[in-house]
Amino acid sequence: MNQKTTMLSSELNTYWGEVANTFQWKKKWDTIQTGNFTDVNVEWFKGGQLNITENCLDRHLEKRRQKKALIFEPNNPNEAAAFYTFGELHIAVSRFANLLKKKGIKKGDVVCFYMGMTPELMIGLLACARIGAIHTVVFGGFSPQSLFGRLIDSKAKLIVTHDGAYRGDKVTPLKSMVDEALAMNTDKEKTSVETVIIVRRTNNDVDVVAGRDYFYDVLIKDCDLHCPAEVMEAEDPLFILYTSGSTGKPKGLLHTIAGYMVHVGNSFKDVFQIKENDVFWCTADIGWITGHSYLTYGPLLNGTTTIMFEGIPNYPTPARFWEVVEKHQITHLYTAPTAIRSLEKFGVEIPDSFPMKSLKVLGSVGEPINEEAWQWYHKHVGKNKCPIVDTWWQTETGGIMISPLAGITKLKPAHATLPLKGIVPILVDEKGNIVTELVASGNLCINTPWPSLARTIYGDHERFKQTYFSTYKDLYFTGDGAKRDADGFFRITGRVDDVINVSGHRIGTAEVEEAINENPHVTESAVVGFPHPIKGQGIYAFVTCNDHFDHPEDLEKDIRETVQKIIGPIAKPDVIQIVLGLPKTRSGKIMRRILRKIVENDLENIGDTSTLLNPECVDLIIEGKK
Ligand code: WT7
Repeated sequence: MNQKTTMLSSELNTYWGEVANTFQWKKKWDTIQTGNFTDVNVEWFKGGQLNITENCLDRHLEKRRQKKALIFEPNNPNEAAAFYTFGELHIAVSRFANLLKKKGIKKGDVVCFYMGMTPELMIGLLACARIGAIHTVVFGGFSPQSLFGRLIDSKAKLIVTHDGAYRGDKVTPLKSMVDEALAMNTDKEKTSVETVIIVRRTNNDVDVVAGRDYFYDVLIKDCDLHCPAEVMEAEDPLFILYTSGSTGKPKGLLHTIAGYMVHVGNSFKDVFQIKENDVFWCTADIGWITGHSYLTYGPLLNGTTTIMFEGIPNYPTPARFWEVVEKHQITHLYTAPTAIRSLEKFGVEIPDSFPMKSLKVLGSVGEPINEEAWQWYHKHVGKNKCPIVDTWWQTETGGIMISPLAGITKLKPAHATLPLKGIVPILVDEKGNIVTELVASGNLCINTPWPSLARTIYGDHERFKQTYFSTYKDLYFTGDGAKRDADGFFRITGRVDDVINVSGHRIGTAEVEEAINENPHVTESAVVGFPHPIKGQGIYAFVTCNDHFDHPEDLEKDIRETVQKIIGPIAKPDVIQIVLGLPKTRSGKIMRRILRKIVENDLENIGDTSTLLNPECVDLIIEGKK
């Protein structure tokens, strides 16, 4: 298997056809690929019919019925781990699917999941796919208000939640947060939720609204073990997943069944070089695309044992990750640079005291991995014997796009290296010209369609076109900058738009600003990312306010609470600087570029400020910088 960077489009289609042939279809496709980036109407495997859960479960039953499909490692290490074989998972999915049907869910309906990381979450997603319902997972760290917005946008009819979710020493009362979200209904803005299913986990007290709320354990008892897999068209939707963009409103990326399955299943096998008895641990939450593609679908499509971890890296101690690796004899560990850096600070003695002999491959995802973290991961976790695959991709791309193949591609720290076969990345300069020199830098675009590209932003195809296909003609624009070296290796340098990457989570600066501006004391705000030693990027907010505060700390606290309430704890600013004015152009546009240079301590490159409407504010901001 080689990673070729240049393929003709007929070769590309032949290749994807071959890959698709390794999956199980109820009916083969008529055309491999149609549509293009100009009209933004890409489709794959049209005419084909399938059910992704038959590919994840049924087709393994003959050989792997007794093999572990899912290992659940609870938040608390004293609680026993749980196991599901492929046979058991097949039954659990069928029963959950029947539960959804009983509650009126049909093909094409949207089901929302707002849960902690327990097996019912994964089972629930597959149950949707079994009957042709569309799943949309909202990460449990988002606030009721964010949930409400996503419920409105997705028109979800049913929501599955927990009485509470464990995370380290905290319990998040998810069901009451669902209640809060549903109480935001007004005549003008009303969710379509008819049913709430509560999975018991923490035994938190919950209110039960008669005729709307039901306990999972009560309903599931009467659900049959058999559920036929719905016959789905290749281009039917599989899921919607929300992610932040450059405007305030999150985007619901829509993925369709066949193309997603083909690339995710295949890239999992190739990148990680998976063997039959491997045990794969992806530490991401299922609320993010990584948890969809490489915790759930990728491993199951390949009949691989996957681990689901409910907890966090440093609970109850910073040795937890390594304990889990030993306990379940993990062969592949796939995590984020921020997790590595957060464990790095506790010293090498901790990982060094675990031999972790089972490990074969390490993976990194979510943000650029700095060289120091790469070396630490390689030496102290991988004991210098495990290749690290630095996988670059996005919610929109569905699966991994640029990455070494474990043990095959030469490794270069902090480089995502080469595109996967069938993927054609290119660099584009400021003017939109394709950069032809090998050694170069530019904005990263993808030249030709690939199967797992999101098809649209749910309910807003115009925004989909605008965001990804209008910056550069006939190209998909990723929003990332990249460099290419003499080996043709790519190094992703980070976002070039108004999106910041905090602990591997994408947060739109406009979204945070809108939230901050909801605070009654705030007049205006500007949010930029700054280099943060653990999170990669932190959130720095400049705020002007309409009152005088003797104790600015009080206002800062209040602003953080506002953001937590509107978006969730993940978007809380790390630094808030209250300023008298924000630098603006004569036309009133806030100059975030200047603010970025200030927080990066790159004062030489601030540029000419004399043409600003209010140049005097720049010095004041620099003086007051935290
Ligand atoms: C953005 C996508 C991909 C799943 C998790 C995040 C950044 C992702 C890498 C990497 C450098 C990376 C990019 C990308 N990113 N992986 N290996 N090296 N940067 O998914 O929330 O959709 O964010 O994450 O900036 O655009 P996401």
